[in-house]
Amino acid sequence: MENKVIETIQNRRSIRRYKQNQITDEELDKIIEAGCYAPSGGNNQSSHFVVIQSPETLNELKALVVEEFSKMEIKEDTYKSLKASILQSKKGNYDFTYHAPTLILISNLRGYGNAMADCSVALENMMLAATSLKIGSCWVNQLKWLADNYTVKNYIKKFDINEDEIICGGIVLGYSEQNNLPPIERKGNHVTFIK
Ligand SMILES: Cc1cc2nc3c(=O)[nH]c(=O)nc-3n(C[C@H](O)[C@H](O)[C@H](O)COP(=O)(O)O)c2cc1C
Repeated sequence: MENKVIETIQNRRSIRRYKQNQITDEELDKIIEAGCYAPSGGNNQSSHFVVIQSPETLNELKALVVEEFSKMEIKEDTYKSLKASILQSKKGNYDFTYHAPTLILISNLRGYGNAMADCSVALENMMLAATSLKIGSCWVNQLKWLADNYTVKNYIKKFDINEDEIICGGIVLGYSEQNNLPPIERKGNHVTFIK
């Protein structure tokens, strides 16, 4: 049974190498629209999408991320991906965006119980829309990990993300340098059928 939606879900892969040419505004608009069409708890629609394409701003933000991760200590229970980000930042050669030309951060209201869920469904919608448009994407969580970092909180005020909002995640977008990656077989997860 052919089904475009299911094919797109299975073909989406996290892309970590990008061409440097920017995606078109038409493609970007379609992707953002897909994010906005995501469901939200109580139809709250309070997700805030920040689209960053300015190379200067991206470089500034990447440098800030490296600086702030470099100051962090690794503890025994530090989450493995966060640990990798800290270690790479301490080496000084870390680009959490994989040199992608577009970064979308998503924030929502602090204290809103569905903030993370609403942002997550919007991020997945955008990654699926990107896949269907032959645009690579990857979830990047570094700004979420730094959501309560004082310097970062101050910096993101220029993105109109103020004290009442918290960054829940982000994605990078661009034309892929890694085409036709096969889907990773899902051997994890746990499904219980009660029929
Ligand atoms: C909540 C979440 C956070 C993630 N954070 C990152 C990240 O910071 N950097 C990254 O390269 N990939 C990140 N990923 C991508 C996962 O590593 C990836 O989805 C997983 O390895 C499966 O590979 P696939 O997306 O190609 O199927 C994240 C994915 C999710 C759902």
